[in-house]
Order: sequence, then structure tokens, then C-alpha cells
Amino acid sequence: MTLEYKYPAVEFLKPKARRRIPHFVWEYLDSGTGAEVTHKRNRTIFEDIKMMPSILHGPIEPDTRKTLLGKTYDLPFGVAPVGMSGLVWPDAESLLAKNAGDANIPYCLSTVACQTPEQVGPHTKGNGWFQLYPPRDPDIRRDMLRRVKEAGFETLVLTVDLPEASRRERQARGGITHPPVLTARLLAQIARRPAWAIATALHGRPEMPFVSQYGDASRGLPITEHIGYQLRTSPDMEYVNWLRDHWQGPLVLKGIMNHKDVERLEAIGVDALWVSNHAGRQFDGTLTSLEVLPSIRRASKLPIIFDSGVERGMDILRALALGADFVMLGSAWHFALGALGRQGPAHLTSILKKDLIANMGQLGLVDLNDCARCLCSKIA
Ligand SMILES: Cc1cc2nc3c(=O)[nH]c(=O)nc-3n(C[C@H](O)[C@H](O)[C@H](O)COP(=O)(O)O)c2cc1C
Repeated sequence: MTLEYKYPAVEFLKPKARRRIPHFVWEYLDSGTGAEVTHKRNRTIFEDIKMMPSILHGPIEPDTRKTLLGKTYDLPFGVAPVGMSGLVWPDAESLLAKNAGDANIPYCLSTVACQTPEQVGPHTKGNGWFQLYPPRDPDIRRDMLRRVKEAGFETLVLTVDLPEASRRERQARGGITHPPVLTARLLAQIARRPAWAIATALHGRPEMPFVSQYGDASRGLPITEHIGYQLRTSPDMEYVNWLRDHWQGPLVLKGIMNHKDVERLEAIGVDALWVSNHAGRQFDGTLTSLEVLPSIRRASKLPIIFDSGVERGMDILRALALGADFVMLGSAWHFALGALGRQGPAHLTSILKKDLIANMGQLGLVDLNDCARCLCSKIA
């Protein structure tokens, strides 16, 4: 059976990934914060958005291209930044970047990735974005921006939804530290996942080489106290201003949930807003990103990037219909990597694209910029 038949959607990749990666890695990947209400609602909320199928429109050829920040991508979705991707599957950052380059979609590298911008940049074929967790020290900041730029990343994403480290209860119980310290408990979990264990042993222990180059590698700390957390500050508007002055390419702010923030961000010269609740990993009991999206769309003319809870082509169409210009996925790529290893990224790209095209056909939609007209205004 081909992958297409075996894993036609993310929901089939998820259990397979869970069986292939150690329990502590799964808990890191899949945990929300608090009672995980927001984390779960991020998925279910999509079911409430209805679109009207179209009939008698004759044959159409859906165009899946989307232009964002001056660049036309072949598909309207990309890869959100995920810290320690390489813990989920060895070489994950490069695998995701190569797939993004080949598929002509964006790949956003996290500050706390397992590979450096210099290692990953060349694979992106110009589709690389870099996500910054804001370093406190201006010298470190300057040096990071210089390296990121020289490595070929043109778009800078500042994540602003981490004023504090969050508490993820399942993740904490899983026992993960940075770097993973091989306690008897973790070793027992690893022993039950031979494919992951062998691949990881051959590749080397997952670390955070980029941030570790700026300080003590903080061996064996809980994942919420690692060097990335120690270096970073909780940014304010002055910080954004500083970045605006020191970064020549597009600057995106990630983690926008409140339309009241739009005006000051526009005034400071931000190029795009990234509506996200961080997969419900930072703050529980808030709205889903999909619920806040329409009000942010109304408040801003800036391009809007959207994430949190997206798993299907249909979800992408729903987000575009509610005002997003582009859609990113975080966990889904890692479920694909955990389930299928190197084949994961291309497979996920393929099934999302197929689902997108099939549903565009049902909607009679040729141009993704017209998604909003397919929304059902109300259910009679
Ligand atoms: C395991 C994991 C690690 C993450 N690490 C980061 C990170 O380093 N920087 C960041 O801005 N967002 C991070 N995120 C959030 C993602 O960029 C994105 O907002 C989120 O995954 C989108 O929701 P989804 O996973 O439902 O697609 C992480 C998400 C996950 C699941």
C-alpha cells in the first residue's frame, strides 16, 4: 500500500508517530499548557466554519499559488518554527528545509533548533525565515541577526507570546531536560523505540547549537530553563523598534491575538502579523487563533499569517476565508517526521495539496484570494 493510501491525513500519521518516538519526545511535541483546553479547541473550532459547495461551474483548474511579502509560493502553507525539531527525528530541520525548497513553500527555523542557520540556510533555496526568541544582550542580538542574514534568511519573525516560560504538565511529567539526560527512565522509553534510537545514535545527541554558542550549554536543565530561556528577554515596543532599525528585510510579529495591538504594530513598521496562540502551548483558557482572526483582519491591512490547529487542506481554506493570507503548521510536520522519518515532509506536503485541490474543486474556487466568498454567512 502506498503512503497516500496508508496515511491520507494527519490523523493517521499521529498514532504512528506516537508508536515510533519515545514517550518523553511525544509529550514535548504534543503538550499544550494548563488543562490543554485551548490546545484541543484549536482543532475542533475548524468544524464550526462552514463553506458552501458550488455546482455547475464546469471544469476548473484550481491555482494553489499565494503571494506573501513579495514572494510567490506554490502552496498557501509552510512550516512554523518548532524548537528542537531534531529531537523528534534526527536531521529534521534540514529535512524540512529541503522539502520547503523543493516544494517552494516557506520554512521558518527556530532560534532553539537542533541545527544552526548556517547548516539549514543553504537548503531553503531562498524560502527561509528565521524566528527569533529575543536575546537580552544587544551584542548577541546583533551577532545573531548578522549570522541569520549571511546564512540566507530574508524574513525575520519575532515571537512575542512568551512573556513567561509556560507550564506544560504532560511535558514535565515526561521528564525531558535539555539536552536529554539519559536517566534510566528515559533509556527505558528509548529502548522501546528502536528506529528512533538507532537514527538518533547515528546522528548524534540533539542539542541547541545556535544558542549554545552564546553561553553555557546548561546541561540537564528542565526544557523550560535551557540556555534559550536564559538568553532571552520579554520584549517591549522599544525592542521591536530596535529590530525594525537593525533588520533590513521583512519583519513579522508572531503571536498576535488581540486586534487592539494592531495599530501600534503598524505604526512601528512591522511587515506582517502572525496570528497564533502557539498551539495552545503558552496560555490556556484563551480564544483560538481562528476565533480572533476576523477581528484582526478587520483591524489591519497588513498581510496575516495564521497558525494553530491546522491539519487539513480544508482547514487552510477556512483560515484563508476568515482573512489569513498564509497558513503555517507546526505539529503536523513533526507527526509526519515521527511517523515516516525522511519521507514525512514530502508526504505531508502531498496530502495537504491534494486535500486543498479537491476542496477548491468542490467550492468552484480557482483563486485562493477568493476564499471568503465561499463562506456560509449563516446556517438556515
Ligand atoms: C514542539 C513545539 C515547539 C515549538 N517551538 C517554537 C519555537 O521555538 N518558536 C516559536 O515561535 N514557536 C514554536 N512553536 C509554535 C509553532 O511555531 C506554531 O505556532 C504552532 O505549532 C502552531 O500550531 P500547530 O502545532 O497546531 O500547527 C512550537 C510548537 C511546537 C508544537
